[in-house]
Amino acid sequence: MNILVTGGAGYIGSHTVVELLEIGHNAIIMDNLINSSAKVIDRIEAITGKRPTFYKCDMLDKAAMNALFDKESIECVIHFAGLKAVGESVREPYKYYYNNLSGSLDLIDVMNAHNVKNLIFSSSATVYGIPKTVPITENFPKGECTNPYGWTKSMLEQIFTDVQKADPKWNVVLLRYFNPIGAHQSGLIGETPNGIPNNLMPYITQVAIGKLKELGIFGNDYNTHDGTGVRDYIHVVDLAKAHVKALKKITDNSGLSVYNLGTGIGYSVLDVVKSFEKANGIKIPYSIRPRRAGDIDSYYASADKAYKELGWKAELGIEDMCKDSWNFQKKNPNGYDDK
Ligand code: NAD
Ligand code: WQD
Repeated sequence: MNILVTGGAGYIGSHTVVELLEIGHNAIIMDNLINSSAKVIDRIEAITGKRPTFYKCDMLDKAAMNALFDKESIECVIHFAGLKAVGESVREPYKYYYNNLSGSLDLIDVMNAHNVKNLIFSSSATVYGIPKTVPITENFPKGECTNPYGWTKSMLEQIFTDVQKADPKWNVVLLRYFNPIGAHQSGLIGETPNGIPNNLMPYITQVAIGKLKELGIFGNDYNTHDGTGVRDYIHVVDLAKAHVKALKKITDNSGLSVYNLGTGIGYSVLDVVKSFEKANGIKIPYSIRPRRAGDIDSYYASADKAYKELGWKAELGIEDMCKDSWNFQKKNPNGYDDK
């Protein structure tokens, strides 16, 4: 299948392109490189032996997107492109609504104009807001998001749902990711946050490599087994494989589908630190800091629906995630800027 991967030079998109190419799909990358590097294309070729077609193109540039769709006979779009830094979205809400919402609306318009009506969307567990209980299933109501970034995900789910309802020729798959971490085992692609990492694993790997002094653990008074926040960490390669499986809902013309992508296992911050130390033989110094605004006690998925309907479940464990995250960081101390 000819698949357009928007944001395909990014962390999750690049891992998904690898899986698509390896199974024989023609993955075409569209990315404006605002949060990634063109070097990723070389890395994907090094891993797969295939060089994906790459368009440096902004989803806000409709003329460029129309030209891309005129040239490539796209059959399905996997839509990763978007800004995703929670803290930045609080400081710059307009930038996030404009980029993520207007960009996605432009994409829908261009898809319709070319009669391309198959879309897999990168959503987020953040759309659930604060869940009443865990594990979280897909029929939990969407909740109050705690930041503009989360609202863009929630609003885009609504937009794609309404587009599909109005025109049943559309097939839309909403994938709600929990906490993706890890990297391809080659160490050639991985997560490269700009500046000081907001997320736990890249922060840990930068402590491990000596770029940061110690990990600050945001609160140890949560209602969890050890007082630190619990999350459902999922290996980015497992996440990428789920996108290949999700294509089944496109070829089956299934209309609208929604899936949680998590492992169903919750690990606390201290669990992750201990797993990282055990997997890599590296001590991670830390100190307990005050809670971070917007954080909640515990958050993990029920992943039963994806297993039942897509035949997908996560196979890699927390030690694989810790090992692969560290392997990428070691090989790329400064992300893709190294060489
Ligand atoms: P990422 O920043 O590595 O990838 C996003 C890519 O989109 C980047 O390469 C960026 O350059 C590109 N992009 C952004 N705006 C664009 C635009 N206007 N036009 C073209 N390209 C644009 O992030 P990621 O972690 O790979 O996340 C991919 C998707 O998954 C995002 O939509 C994100 O919100 C979602 N998601 C991520 C997580 C996570 O924890 N990483 C969790 C849930 C959902
Ligand atoms: C995980 C745990 C922190 C950093 C975020 C976004 C969410 C989604 C996934 C896009 C929490 C603790 C973290 C640190 C810490 N992204 N922590 N010290 O907040 O669960 O989810 O990424 O869709 O929208 O909100 O992930 O990695 O930031 O935090 O103690 O330096 O680690 O308190 O318990 P989070 P995270």
